[in-house]
Order: sequence, then structure tokens, then C-alpha cells
Amino acid sequence: MELKIYKDHHHLSDAAANAIIELLKNKPDAVVCLASGETPRLTCRLFVEKALQQKTDTRLFTFIGLDEWVGIPPSNDGSCHYFFQQELIQPLGISSGQVYLFDALSKDPEEECRKMDKTILDKGGIDLVIVGIGMNGHIGFNEPGVSFENYSHVINLDETTITVGQKYFKTATTLQKGITLGLKHLQQSKKVLLLANGAKKAGVIQKTVEGRVGNDFPASIMQTLDQGFVMVDEEAASLLGQRK
Ligand code: F6R
Repeated sequence: MELKIYKDHHHLSDAAANAIIELLKNKPDAVVCLASGETPRLTCRLFVEKALQQKTDTRLFTFIGLDEWVGIPPSNDGSCHYFFQQELIQPLGISSGQVYLFDALSKDPEEECRKMDKTILDKGGIDLVIVGIGMNGHIGFNEPGVSFENYSHVINLDETTITVGQKYFKTATTLQKGITLGLKHLQQSKKVLLLANGAKKAGVIQKTVEGRVGNDFPASIMQTLDQGFVMVDEEAASLLGQRK
């Protein structure tokens, strides 16, 4: 794992956006997976801006959504689906055949998981995955206690996720389960970027980078990934002892 510290959220997001652009230049049919949420929103916007400016070919890559709130329809502006539509799919005109998102309304969520795992396998694996980190150390909806060996799965959301998750919704919303790629996918991805910004993420970044590796704090898995980069701004890095 490598730690990279940037001046602020903008510089961090710029670097993450460049990573997607570079990948698509070298491998136009790459498989890219992104989280939604506050952290990667600017990365998405900068990626779209750069891709349009530089006329990057975005017709061949495969886009995979990291996770979704079970039971929340895509029309709900708090859903991950809605985020991806607004921030990536519509602005870049990405065709539906390139996009794989969990159907949170599926009658058979387990089947959704198997479909997603098969898609990833059939496409030769994920080239680049960009994730955020929750206030409980989750990645995607890999909540504390999750197995590092999981592929896609449905999971009961942790209390912290249910409470913090309200920030995405205009009105109080019942959140119970998530559907998510697993940490095994992260381990098998060719490159993993974990982004965090702001002072409120300083504690979880310290645990991610300097804490004991274990499934009670899923993001600690980053320490085990040779292809993993923890990319943070100065505020999120402020509790790191190793910072020079
Ligand atoms: C969302 C996701 C979550 C978020 C995390 C941080 O798709 O996978 O794990 O990345 O909860 O959320 P923000 O960026 O809103 O602080």
C-alpha cells in the first residue's frame, strides 16, 4: 500500500480523475468501478471535464457501480444509481450496455450478486476501483465484521452507516441492507484507490493506515494490497504519525 497526501480535496480529486483518464488512454476497454458519495463526486466531475476536453474514448470501457442501498429505487436522488447517472453516465453519454449497477429492487438480490460476479469475471477483472471510506471503516458496504473473502453480497447495514447515510436523502429514509462488491474483488483488482478528505475522516484514515489489520475495521485491508493507494488530503492525514 502506498500513502499519498494532497493539499486539498481538489488536488486529490484531480489526481484520481487523471488515474481514470490515463487508464482509458492505455486501455480503452478497461473495467472501472467507482463508489458514489461525497468523496468521489469531484473526481467524477473532473474526470468528465477532462474526458470531454481531451476527447478520451469512453465508448468501450465497462463501468461497475460499487454498491447500492437495497430497496431504494434508482429515481431516488439518494441512491447510488442516481449519483452515477448524474455524475458519469449522462454527462459522458455512456451507453447502457457498458454499465453494470446492482438492481436494488430485485426480487432476488443474491442472483444480482452472482450476476455481478460473473460480469467481472467475464470481463477479465477490474482494472481500477476507486472507493471511499465510511465513518466505521467500511468500504462499499463491507461493514465491520465482514469476511475479506467475500465477493458480491447482501449485508445488514451497520448502525453508523444507517445514521450517516441519511445525509444522502432529502427525507428520513429507512435503510436496512446494502448490496455491494466484496473485499475479495478489491484484492483481485489491478489498482485500488481509497480516497478520503476532510478532518472528519482523520480518525478512520489513521486506523486504515496505522491500525491493526482485521475485519472489525474493513478499510485496514488496504495495508495488505500492493496495488493499493490511500489518497488523502492534508486534513484527513492530520492524525498520521508517519507524516513528515
Ligand atoms: C458509497 C460507498 C460508501 C462511501 C462511504 C464514504 O457508494 O461505497 O462506502 O464511499 O460511506 O461516503 P462519503 O464519501 O459520502 O463520505
